[in-house]
Amino acid sequence: MTDYGSDFLWILILASLGLSALAVFFSISRRHRDNTPVVHSAGEDVASEAARKVLREIEKNGQSVDAALVTWSPETLRKILHEDLPEAQVIVVSNREPYIHNVKGDGVELVVPASGLVSALEPITRACSGTWIAYGGGTADRQMVDEDDRVQVPPGNPSYALRRVWLTEEEYQGYYLGFANEGLWPLCHIAFTRPIFRASDWEAYEAVNRKFADTVVAEARNERPIVLVQDYHFALLPRMIRERLPEAIVITFWHIPWPNSEVFSICPWRERILDGLLGSSIIGFHTQFHANNFTESVDRFLESRIERADAAISYGGQTTLVHAYPISIEWPAELLAKLPDVDASRTSLRERFGLKADVKLCVGVERLDYTKGILDRFQALEELFIRYPEWVGKLVLLQIAAPSRGTLPAYKQLHDECHRYAEELNQRYGSKGYKPVVMVAEHHSQEQVYEIYRAADICMVTSLHDGMNLVAKEFVAARDDEQGVLMLSTFAGASRELLEALIVNPYDPAMMSEALLQALTMTPEEQRQRMRPMREMVRDNNVYRWAGSMLLDAARLRKRSELDRVTAVTERSANPNVDNVVSMVERRRMAAGLR
Ligand code: F6P
Repeated sequence: MTDYGSDFLWILILASLGLSALAVFFSISRRHRDNTPVVHSAGEDVASEAARKVLREIEKNGQSVDAALVTWSPETLRKILHEDLPEAQVIVVSNREPYIHNVKGDGVELVVPASGLVSALEPITRACSGTWIAYGGGTADRQMVDEDDRVQVPPGNPSYALRRVWLTEEEYQGYYLGFANEGLWPLCHIAFTRPIFRASDWEAYEAVNRKFADTVVAEARNERPIVLVQDYHFALLPRMIRERLPEAIVITFWHIPWPNSEVFSICPWRERILDGLLGSSIIGFHTQFHANNFTESVDRFLESRIERADAAISYGGQTTLVHAYPISIEWPAELLAKLPDVDASRTSLRERFGLKADVKLCVGVERLDYTKGILDRFQALEELFIRYPEWVGKLVLLQIAAPSRGTLPAYKQLHDECHRYAEELNQRYGSKGYKPVVMVAEHHSQEQVYEIYRAADICMVTSLHDGMNLVAKEFVAARDDEQGVLMLSTFAGASRELLEALIVNPYDPAMMSEALLQALTMTPEEQRQRMRPMREMVRDNNVYRWAGSMLLDAARLRKRSELDRVTAVTERSANPNVDNVVSMVERRRMAAGLR
């Protein structure tokens, strides 16, 4: 580049940064002035198109700077797809399907599963009119599909196709229950449950990943779809897709933590897992910490080149970006408009559970999983009653625990221990008409869950380890009255964002009981002061931003690869002996430190 060119670029960069700083300053002062939604006009208001292009190339914490200046909505996603990724087909792959059809009596019942992944991706797939490929595990799933195993969803207002994949009992046992949930799940979570690795489970895992790869190829309308691969069930799938659709953009999101490289080394198939994942164009984690752990694992076990400044790994002739994209929820949550307000929710829930008006209601909502710290929450309650007996009779913990992976021994044991401990507490501290712990081990719909959030005084999220934890964000979204206290584990990814929550260590019952007391006695004004910024955080960093940031990065990759292709063709025609010289593309890559 000439001196004149580089001066011009610097002027552009400085001007852009100046404008961005101004925009951020005005945005912050506005956030402090009032609580009305901030309407940014997609960056164009504050930066010229040229500056915007420069801004796109400057990344901060794995995200384009301009991503921070946009108001994220389904419309923004559609715009990105239309303008930055024209004609791209979006295919989502997950194990859990967003809609399950089950036989009920003589009819069919529709269930939306208790899954953070589903609640995050469903609004995205709707906005993109994509195709969602998932395991058809419902007892009536086969009845509901067409001859191509597809069903249009959401029911009543269809906007995308759900393509179901069928698994045999052995495949389900080995791939889902075995390798994914007895192997990878405990490996990736620090919850002190020993991972179990069986060769037969690994074989099933590989076979099922291949089955899903076949389905992706069958569903792809052209050679260049955008495939959003979800979670630890599909570590091998990105490579399998890359081999068959080399021009696809594969964005893999790992929804659970990634362990440090020493823990990861326990897995007998560690190299295969890393190789499989590095078939992705982009790999996303909730936090930078887990992205770093992944990069360390690659560094330790594969011959690769790590470009830390670019957050990129070059391996086997391909580059993969490794970034943090904190997942979130829909904002505003569509279903909130249909729900009764906070007062009505309080009244109906209190009637349902027979709670007196002066009793404080603390809630916990999750799958019955040993990573969620349910027993630790019970222990905190017991500790509070020991330290502050005046609260006996004045506090109830409503624990909603959706049944999950219930055939596995670790989950059966947890189920029994939770019921036993709840019973013990009720015997010790209960009295006529009063039970301190109400445990409901049943599936609840999103509407029911939001009603519970609205009725609560306190929401306890005490995970021993959690990638993000969307319950924390849902609770905040549900509280449009700006009341209610969130107790949040420091080991959940959400604690990096919801800074005004009462942050707790679930391993420390004394500290948790003190935090519980603080929550019980917090003034409405302090609750508001804490809740308001958390609501702003979730509003500005909603799930559309999560998906949009990944799509913008994908668009950037696609443009870069198109440019590389064009340059390579031009060079080849200008110099047929191009193989004997270092190509322009290669030189540019080297200069950018990509190889
Ligand atoms: O937390 C990881 C995750 O895949 C979530 O995305 C989801 O909420 C949960 O596990 C679902 O578990 P399962 O599909 O096994 O019930």
